[in-house]
Amino acid sequence: MTLQRSRILGLGMSVPDRVVTNTDLTQWMDTSHEWIVERTGIEERRWVADGQLGSELGAEASKEAMAAAGVTADGIDLIIYATLSPDVEFPGNGVYLQRSLGTKPTPAIDIRQQCSGFIYGMSMADNFIRSGMYRTVLVVGSEVQSRGMNLSDEGRHISPLFGDGAGAAVVGVSDDEGRGILSSHLYSDGTDAEILWLERPGWKSFPRITAEEVASGALHAQMEGRKVFKHAVTRLPEVILEGLAANGLTLDDVDMVIPHQANLRINEAVVKVLGLPPEKMHNNIQKYGNTTAATIPICMKEAVDLGKIKPGDLVVLVAFGAGLTWGSVVLRY
Ligand code: ACO
Repeated sequence: MTLQRSRILGLGMSVPDRVVTNTDLTQWMDTSHEWIVERTGIEERRWVADGQLGSELGAEASKEAMAAAGVTADGIDLIIYATLSPDVEFPGNGVYLQRSLGTKPTPAIDIRQQCSGFIYGMSMADNFIRSGMYRTVLVVGSEVQSRGMNLSDEGRHISPLFGDGAGAAVVGVSDDEGRGILSSHLYSDGTDAEILWLERPGWKSFPRITAEEVASGALHAQMEGRKVFKHAVTRLPEVILEGLAANGLTLDDVDMVIPHQANLRINEAVVKVLGLPPEKMHNNIQKYGNTTAATIPICMKEAVDLGKIKPGDLVVLVAFGAGLTWGSVVLRY
């Protein structure tokens, strides 16, 4: 049996209107535009308005991706929704997206792979399509990070990094032999799970969070930035090269790398380690910060809109994040 190949049929994105510059952050914490740009490359990020939901951003991005793909709500067979910041603890955002898109009673899978969420989602979509179980899968990454930020001095090593936004891809059966997802490679290693995590409120004890814990900042993510940095600059090149080798390809064949947007310095280090010409990697963290599961579809859509990715181009999507989790997808766009 020949397995059918999948390809990206359409991309979409949505970011909130509110722009928060590095200088804006100085009203809450002791930092500076220069420090943030030098260490991270980030110049500004977007924050949601009061009452604006991550699932709403996800729906806007999805509608744009569906319009680009020429697919209506009835044409979606499966929703895969990646987020670490769901609107509510349960149900997951996938069902809210199903409701707002008005699809048929479509299966919805929520995945929790943080910065690698979109890569995991693309791999799942590809494999559902290859197996013949579904023909058209909507993969969404969306985050509202701003409501989890510690805006005091204690949070200054992490809060400037993140932003809000959503990106989406409609993945469907490829009708063109020269275009499609070639392979994906996924990993996790929980050894260092606590170097980037949000412990509370959890289900380890009752009550799930105490007033003392809230007062001590337990509602905010904790990160050992230098350790995260070191892991990222090792794993990202590794899994890019693995993805290429699995297809008998080399870096010379690559037209564009779309990496997770965690920190411009991480991505510059990856370029250096690989010896990749810098113009073969697209970054837009400068404008949006780290939108976690949403970075890759937002960055890829921008690269396509700018004409940096054209039909048939060899593209590598790659991510690394909390868990630790990482992975790559190699495709011909
Ligand atoms: N403004 C000014 N000074 C600051 C700030 C700030 N926002 N944050 C920290 N500092 C100070 C610290 O207090 C410290 O001062 P000290 O030397 O007087 O004690 C000094 O700057 C250095 O602090 P470090 O935390 O050691 O800074 P570092 O050089 O490691 O840079 C950073 C921090 C940018 C977070 C870096 O570790 C990093 O990028 N790590 C990768 C983490 C990452 O990208 N995470 C994203 C999420 S994970 C993912 O998506 C893969």
